[in-house]
Amino acid sequence: MSKQFDVIVIGGGPGGYIAAIRAAQLGKNVACVDEWKNAKGGPAPGGTCTNTGCIPSKALLQSSEHFEQAGHHFADHGITVKGLSMDAAKMVARKDAVVKQNNDGILYLFKKNKVSFFHGRASFAKAVEGGYEIKVAGATEETLVGQQIIVATGSNARALPGAPFDESMVLSNDGALAMTAVPKKLGLIGSGVIGLEMGSVWRRLGAEVTILEGLPDFLGAVDQQIAKEAHKAFVKQGLKIELGVKVGEVKVGKKGVSVAWTNVKGEAQTLDVDKLIVSIGRVPNTIGLNAEAVGLQLDERGAIVVDGDCKTNLLGVWAVGDVVRGPMLAHKAEEEGVAVAERIAGQHGHVNFNTVPWVIYTSPEIAWVGRTEQQLKADGVAYKAGTFPFLANGRARALGDTTGMVKMLADATTDEILGVHIVGPMASELIAECVVAMEFRASSEDIARVCHAHPTLSESTKEAALAVEKRTLNF
Ligand code: NAI
Repeated sequence: MSKQFDVIVIGGGPGGYIAAIRAAQLGKNVACVDEWKNAKGGPAPGGTCTNTGCIPSKALLQSSEHFEQAGHHFADHGITVKGLSMDAAKMVARKDAVVKQNNDGILYLFKKNKVSFFHGRASFAKAVEGGYEIKVAGATEETLVGQQIIVATGSNARALPGAPFDESMVLSNDGALAMTAVPKKLGLIGSGVIGLEMGSVWRRLGAEVTILEGLPDFLGAVDQQIAKEAHKAFVKQGLKIELGVKVGEVKVGKKGVSVAWTNVKGEAQTLDVDKLIVSIGRVPNTIGLNAEAVGLQLDERGAIVVDGDCKTNLLGVWAVGDVVRGPMLAHKAEEEGVAVAERIAGQHGHVNFNTVPWVIYTSPEIAWVGRTEQQLKADGVAYKAGTFPFLANGRARALGDTTGMVKMLADATTDEILGVHIVGPMASELIAECVVAMEFRASSEDIARVCHAHPTLSESTKEAALAVEKRTLNF
């Protein structure tokens, strides 16, 4: 006997669980199916973000940053630490506890919102009158029928050809977050978001880290003035970053990994490391979904084809998050999930892709929203730029963290803010004001005229806005 629902959400990551909650809030009878298992085989909803992405990486970034501060910066404050040591296994256990709090939090939210949760793998069986039949393979088999289906099955790490992930020597984000001992030498392929975050964690804990990046520019999608500043800081911290490389054969032994690579001058090199993290992007996940049973259209990358409203080629089937086009970011998935639930309920859900913020949680942090200076040039947009360094900010000096700057770009004629780019302390939090400003189509003058509390890092945003008109007060 099948169980009937108004909406079935496949996948319990940030796109899926948020869509399920929003649809339930709007009065729908909702099921969410997720197969992720915790170490005991129990449900672990939250997807990559909660289990092997955003949340655990932030836990380890925090722990490793404490260690780095105690070892290198407490002395500046007159604090002496003797016998400083680090227990990587305990750090990882704490991270696991943080993940579990989040898994349990989602299960609680499902109960609170009366979302029926099914632990297992969902796949399309067939189209039926007024909806779709979904099979759930878990501890028990279930047959569900939903009028509307939201697919939010996320993504998987992309492997390097010839070097499949074994999560012991060649690691994806999964293995990179689970090492219980610090490798002496750590190699990373790809200096994107994961490469820099994971490279930072393990360098702070004592690993000798080398990152091999294929592109000649560091963080090519980031405003290049900001990227250069970040690159300088990372190199000073001891991250070895090789740009413009070509990675060749990867040999995996019992004790280590050997990577053949060619440097930017075309010279053959070898990198011998204890562990190798491969962070060269992710691929949409439709494994086991049985999309072909209902004729759900995928593109050549395996992503589900959707329009601007997340509608697929099938009436009543929607897809959100990493499994569709656009940036693979948890908050983008959440916004799409909310918008789809609202559309199903007859409302007008909307996602503004122009104001999706990006954050890289290194130290200094990097955060941005809107267009970069190089994009504005390429688009032929006349703009004004204002920058303000944290070196001139009182709060940053008091914190002892003055690396970086805020950079604001505004339209030369209308003064509308077109982009804000930050490298420096708490950039992840500072960017929120800029997102709000851009969402309301504020001008740089608007920010410049808003009273910002003193002393705060956010005054640097106001000063960058003043700098657009060349009238900074503190620099
Ligand atoms: P990414 O797309 O950020 O970076 C991949 C890097 O690998 C690029 O710089 C690329 O040029 C390089 N690369 C690709 N193929 C290569 C090759 N064969 N040899 C050398 N270099 C190569 O992807 P990443 O870091 O794997 O992250 C995956 C996804 O997860 C991203 O979409 C990211 O947005 C998301 N994510 C977001 C986080 C955040 O918001 N803070 C944290 C971690 C991941």
